[in-house]
Amino acid sequence: MSSNSSDAPPQGGMLPLRVIAKTCIATDVFLFELAHRDGTPLPAFSGGAHVTVLTPNGLTRRYSLCNDPAQSDRYLLAVKREHQGQGGSASMIDQVQSGDELLSTAPRNDFALDHDASSHLLIAGGIGITPILSMVRELQARGADFQMIYLTRSAAFTAFRAQLQSPELAGRVLLHHDEGDLSRAMDLSPWLAQPREGLHVYCCGPRGLMHSVHEQTRHWPHGSVHFEDFGTSAPPEALQDRPFTVKLARSGVTVAVPAGISILEALRREGIAVPSSCESGTCGTCRTGLLAGAAEHRDYVLGEDEQESEIMICVSRAVSPQLELDL
Ligand code: FES
Repeated sequence: MSSNSSDAPPQGGMLPLRVIAKTCIATDVFLFELAHRDGTPLPAFSGGAHVTVLTPNGLTRRYSLCNDPAQSDRYLLAVKREHQGQGGSASMIDQVQSGDELLSTAPRNDFALDHDASSHLLIAGGIGITPILSMVRELQARGADFQMIYLTRSAAFTAFRAQLQSPELAGRVLLHHDEGDLSRAMDLSPWLAQPREGLHVYCCGPRGLMHSVHEQTRHWPHGSVHFEDFGTSAPPEALQDRPFTVKLARSGVTVAVPAGISILEALRREGIAVPSSCESGTCGTCRTGLLAGAAEHRDYVLGEDEQESEIMICVSRAVSPQLELDL
């Protein structure tokens, strides 16, 4: 999935990669093929991995790798133009041409396939197809049992449509277009109502889709439903930010968290570093002990039994005026 990342300058160790091809593959979606200048193999990745790229206008953006993880000579990124975004995707699409060089991190994976699963249900919405496609390729190579559901507005907005309708995937991929009409959204309950032993669900797409899948799988075994977002999509209307404070139990320091700023970011601005990765409540890296106060949990990681005592500080907020954190 194309995504927002932090706008902090990239760290060292970036790979200089050449754009060997740039192709429009759906409405507002461009595919970039990146390779080493000298054609040497790239760092390996697994299905669901992403890289962070420095865009020409100086932003860092995370993009899922959408090619077959067995390919070591190139990374494929699909970038969707975000009309409401901060200009990272527009910079990639408008300013990067074939032959240009881009700086990219090596891949990392917060959305990997679970190797203990005996079957897999993959649900992609829109540009959320990108990590799902590399997962499909990995599952095909393994001869694994999987089914994929791909939800888009229309055929014109469906990236990788021809690949997904190829005979090798016959019976595995279900495509659904809602034509921009919510009343035509696909009913996922036939797939999600009953957990099945060994089945894992993976979902990437707009926050509304992920929220719906999250709600419909609350009764599934903990750890069997996985999400990837990267925070590009707006939170549901109901989730309005309110300011509050966090008290750090170990130091006694209190930090104000204004509306529109995450706890993680508020701490960062005070020079307090907490490990993080996805910053969209999907990877679990920023898990923090919650000692007091009532949280408004917005993540896709914690089970109900964990929400009393833990919080994902990259997305979740407070209902009470103050939270006390185990930091
Ligand atoms: S950084 Fe990934 S859940 Fe918070």
